[in-house]
Amino acid sequence: MDRKDQIPIPVNHAVKALTQEIVDALKFLSREGFIGCDLSPKSAQILESWAEIRKNPKAETLEDIQKDLGDCRRCKLCKSRTHIVFGEGNPSARLLFVGEGPGYDEDIQGKPFVGKAGQLLSKIIKAMNLTREQVYICNIIKCRPPQNRNPEPDEIKACLPFLKRQVSAVSPEFICALGSVAIRALLDQEIFISRVRGKFFEFKGIKVMPTYHPAYLLRNPNKKRDVWEDVQKIMKEMGLS
Ligand code: URA
Repeated sequence: MDRKDQIPIPVNHAVKALTQEIVDALKFLSREGFIGCDLSPKSAQILESWAEIRKNPKAETLEDIQKDLGDCRRCKLCKSRTHIVFGEGNPSARLLFVGEGPGYDEDIQGKPFVGKAGQLLSKIIKAMNLTREQVYICNIIKCRPPQNRNPEPDEIKACLPFLKRQVSAVSPEFICALGSVAIRALLDQEIFISRVRGKFFEFKGIKVMPTYHPAYLLRNPNKKRDVWEDVQKIMKEMGLS
């Protein structure tokens, strides 16, 4: 049959929308590294993220995410925290810093990186020819663990979806992951910061540079040179140097 003899099939809008939804789902799943419908925790987590996005199909803002977070009681850290530390900075920053979790000062003020480690982070940002207002700063977990202990897996599991949504809302070109807790949670791999620092990784199409945490630098000032080298790589890619 010739093309001109074919009867055009009217495109049903519902079919078109469904097709688009399937395409979007497949794109999302492949971006997230979904390779098959198995029962692994990673696959389950990816499917959960998709379900979360489907609940909020419009691009969500940081305000939407903060509203959804509310007076969060999703993990045990809610019992000991003073304030939730959501994150702050430019909502469309090119560069996003992600740390571990709030410490004493952050818990009191409800702002990320405002204590001694935060002052050092501010110096690093300044040395990059940027200001804190130009970048976005947040943490893997949003509530201070008692005695500043490392976040526990269940706490990271409860909080990470919110960080991922923040990353999607800001949509930065670069992420600087500060310390092993940050890079492990982002890449979902048991890696050592000393092995991976200074190398670009990829997360949701964003270039991720892991480097040492500023609190570690306060204890090991001889590692400052390494961090300077790592952030210079970000600067070069951003066209800041
Ligand atoms: N350390 C972090 O990882 N985050 C903060 O906000 C402060 C200290």
